[in-house]
Amino acid sequence: MKKVLVTRKLLRSCEDKASKLFDANLNSNDELYSQNKLLKLSEGCDGILSSLTDKIDEETIKKLPDTIKIISNFAVGFGNIDVEAARKRNIAVTNTPDVLTDATAEIAMLLILGACRRANEGINWVKKENWKWSSDFLIGKQLTGSRLGILGMGRIGRAVAKLAKSFGMEIHYRNRSRLKPEIEEGAKFHESIKSLFSVSDVLSICCPATKETKDIINKDTLEYFPTGAIITNVARGDMIDDEAMVQALNSRKIYAIGLDVYKGEPRIHSEYLKQPTAFILPHLGSATKKTRTAMADLAIDNIDEYFSTGKCKNIIN
Ligand code: DGY
Repeated sequence: MKKVLVTRKLLRSCEDKASKLFDANLNSNDELYSQNKLLKLSEGCDGILSSLTDKIDEETIKKLPDTIKIISNFAVGFGNIDVEAARKRNIAVTNTPDVLTDATAEIAMLLILGACRRANEGINWVKKENWKWSSDFLIGKQLTGSRLGILGMGRIGRAVAKLAKSFGMEIHYRNRSRLKPEIEEGAKFHESIKSLFSVSDVLSICCPATKETKDIINKDTLEYFPTGAIITNVARGDMIDDEAMVQALNSRKIYAIGLDVYKGEPRIHSEYLKQPTAFILPHLGSATKKTRTAMADLAIDNIDEYFSTGKCKNIIN
């Protein structure tokens, strides 16, 4: 039986599955392993089932025991792993695409709705108990008829487009390459982020974190948006320069934000917590039982498939 280090606690049924297939070293206390501890626990293992909270950088990869042949990341994003360093050591890295698309798109819509309709302020008023209905109380922005810019039209971006269309939003997008018309479904492609941002009453960030997308929302690019735009992010915090965003919120260039992911999470830029119009969640994109089960099952299957066949459809390096 292959020995696999599972770095974070999984739902019970998934841990049972891992234990049936492998000699699994589980983390029942759900401790966040330091890089040193992860290296120590990897000794004698054939594979690692990692999560987005494990920073498996070049230095860590160089120190991994030779027995490690696969790192199966329990996420669709893999910015936490230096995939190139892993490739150099012949370690396969896999992810869990598709299974979390719908759950993440739902959270993207929640962020859009929460930010546009001032949900955070509403919740705060309800807690204070001294609110009263009036015709101009917490007037928000309506989705119907407004333009949604989607940055990154992969699986999640397309699922967001579909949901947003049913709210009557007009869909614009920027992607590395233009989609075929039958996949585009009427969404308007933009050749540049300047062009996309300038028509985005609301932006939904759905692209992967790469060197190219890091801080793509910054002091200069924030200027491209219409005044009073709303920015939401369901992908990774790396895409936003937080200082620039806070300034844009303070100056009211940006009306509201909806965030589920943060640079350096679980830390959150302290100014976001003070912004009444910030609708912020603790990385809940894939947090449903159905989706987390499917993700862990797929991460386990990726390892199983790799050891049984020497190949795996979800290898990313
Ligand atoms: C992912 O899989 O990358 C998600 O962010 C997890 O919630």
